[in-house]
Amino acid sequence: MAELLGPDEVGRAAEILAEGGLVAFPTETVYGLGADASDGDAVAGIFEAKGRPKGHPLIAHVASAADAVRLVGQASSTLMLDVERLADSFWPGPLTVIVPRSDAVDPATTGGRDTVGVRVPDHPVATALLATFGGPVAAPSANRFGSVSPTTAAHVMDELGARIDAVIDGGPSRVGVESTIVDLTTGPEPALLRPGGISQVELEAVLGRPVVDGAGGESRAPGMLASHYAPRATVELVTGGPEGLADRLADVSVESSVGVIAPWATAHHPTWVVPADPAGYASVLYLMLRAADASGVERLLVVPPEEGPLHAAVMDRLRKASAPRPPSSLGPSGSRPAL
Ligand code: TXA
Ligand code: MG
Repeated sequence: MAELLGPDEVGRAAEILAEGGLVAFPTETVYGLGADASDGDAVAGIFEAKGRPKGHPLIAHVASAADAVRLVGQASSTLMLDVERLADSFWPGPLTVIVPRSDAVDPATTGGRDTVGVRVPDHPVATALLATFGGPVAAPSANRFGSVSPTTAAHVMDELGARIDAVIDGGPSRVGVESTIVDLTTGPEPALLRPGGISQVELEAVLGRPVVDGAGGESRAPGMLASHYAPRATVELVTGGPEGLADRLADVSVESSVGVIAPWATAHHPTWVVPADPAGYASVLYLMLRAADASGVERLLVVPPEEGPLHAAVMDRLRKASAPRPPSSLGPSGSRPAL
């Protein structure tokens, strides 16, 4: 079983990383599963522990913007200026930038690509770990492939405890959904590959030009499959407010194993009540999806959040959770109900 480390035990965690081991650590978005990004064998362990197909590139995490610049390979002055601007405004924070890869990152980290995703997380434990380790740490979300990202150390232990060396407990993740990913290597217009804590409008304001939607484009970010971020239960989005939900529930027998995630309580079905504002909603979304799965409900009716910061990020995850699932996408918790 993985060692459970306290937030002040980053020295021990850094040692494990230096020996080529796997350490899950808290960030402000979700927990990451870390390995030395310059060590191809260590990184191979991440893919094995997650059950993630090789070739899905990982994000390299560093302690500061100065460290991040060392991961950028040959780049135009425009690209370097973009990185500098984004770093000044959003790092440390929930933003990943895709840049040309330098030799500081092993090709195993980037799935053989000549680009690398770089992020400076905004969490004291992550910062301390990265600074102590002293090099880039490759880290995907610390969940089995295809399931919901973990926002607590307990979730990581449950899912990966038997497959990794250590988990650092740094409390629940504040943002609750994965970082925004912007690709600076797509040509003159940066591309938004994944919405997150930093919005498209914020990126455009800082970069001084439009950021195009890159999520659908020729699988620039493999791993962003349509049915990613899914709990075991099937997920259906319900619009139309309380009446819309009441209408939908009118067709559901009280005995059936149907649960609800909504900003208000319902009478006859297990309901996980979430904040209506999207930032609050994001902070508990994965917690609620896991709780619903643990309760055994097979079908989840989910009411989306109001407009506001992080709305796009939450809607992206909800759409993916509710997308039709290919038979090959069976999650870690066993077979899924038929569609
Ligand atoms: O908030 C986060 O980003 C968390 C925490 C741990 O930092 N990490 C995370 O990693 O969500 P992961 O591996 O679950 O998702 C990273 C996404 C993947 O979909 C991957 O395809 C994309 O980033 N990505 C990474 N490097 C890339 C690259 N060079 N080109 C295109 N997409 C890339
Ligand atoms: Mg992930």
